[in-house]
Amino acid sequence: MKKLRASSKVGHNSKIGHNSQMGQNSKMGHNSKMGHGLWMGHDLNIGGRSAGKCLLALGLTCALSLGLVSCGQKDAAKTDTLKIGLTVYDDSDTFLSQITEEIRSRAKEDSGPMKITVSAKGADGSQRTQDEQVEELIASGCNILFVNLVDRTDPSNIIDLARDNNVPIIFYNRELVKEDLMQWDKLYYVGAKAGQSAELQGQEIAAYIAAHPEVDSNGDGKIQYVMLKGEPGHQDAIIRSEKVVETLLAEGVELDKLSYEVANWSRAQAENRTSQLISEYHGQIELLISNNDDMALGAMDAYDQSNMTQNGRPAIFGIDGTKETLEAIRAGKVQGTVMNDATGQADAMMDLAERIFQGKDLSKLPLLNGKYIYIDYTIPQEN
Ligand code: GAL
Ligand code: CA
Repeated sequence: MKKLRASSKVGHNSKIGHNSQMGQNSKMGHNSKMGHGLWMGHDLNIGGRSAGKCLLALGLTCALSLGLVSCGQKDAAKTDTLKIGLTVYDDSDTFLSQITEEIRSRAKEDSGPMKITVSAKGADGSQRTQDEQVEELIASGCNILFVNLVDRTDPSNIIDLARDNNVPIIFYNRELVKEDLMQWDKLYYVGAKAGQSAELQGQEIAAYIAAHPEVDSNGDGKIQYVMLKGEPGHQDAIIRSEKVVETLLAEGVELDKLSYEVANWSRAQAENRTSQLISEYHGQIELLISNNDDMALGAMDAYDQSNMTQNGRPAIFGIDGTKETLEAIRAGKVQGTVMNDATGQADAMMDLAERIFQGKDLSKLPLLNGKYIYIDYTIPQEN
């Protein structure tokens, strides 16, 4: 099997220290993800190329000898089994865990004459770990990779490995730039259009305010709002944040931005940030717009912990349509969300993987430019 080349490996690692996702995000300072990012930067400075390569090789040897690899030992000649190797940026992410579950259940359903196995790994927010995982998955005989990049601007090591070993990749959810996707003809992307989720969220909020004028609790004709943002540099965080405001303005809602906080998609971080916002703005916040549902739930947790009465609480809106958020909407604690279709995305990935594996015509699939499948967001009935 062809391994990572030291040159590309180390060259790309140098990006990580300055990387917009990790570098800019001073708020992730205490987070284990940032720890990895810093460590990678140091490794580059101290260790140079050969150290990076050795570590990687050592990691692979250990993984193999400890029997950690689970795609089944390599038997390249036998290709009757579709062996999917999946790596996700962080396996504690709620929405992505939903996608993994959907993929597992589709694999079970479709396993018949064609056997399908799924071997899934979480990269704990480290691109270096993910690169190593891809190497392990390929070494263990996976014949299709599902990759949810840690750093969507740094897929080159993974692409080189896959191309050298002729293993197609379906990237998902964290969208890489087009130039990277064009590097090889067996690279694909499955995801959703961030702008669409924000438009739907904006329309929902505007409709909610029209139906509940009491949202403007100080009666000044403007909506005092705060925003909780996902990871800096993530297409969904950037585009959702801009577009929801644009949509609200276009819907004629007058806005007064009080503040925003970055909470990296995380419920715990959102609870913490929202508690700070509550103590800073007391009852002034009328609307809380969150880039995803887990952070909306974190905001809800913060209000539950505060001694704020129901009247003092803002209207809270998320995106994803997770089970727990739909329940919170039914309980009146969150006001709305947008469905990010985990089942639809998992199905699209499986349809594509199965067809690639069987050498079937891909033109039957809704592939844009032969590369992209985008699944629509929708408004759930709970809203
Ligand atoms: C978004 C989703 C977030 C989070 C993120 C991870 O599409 O709304 O909840 O899962 O992807 O990349
Ligand atoms: Ca107001």
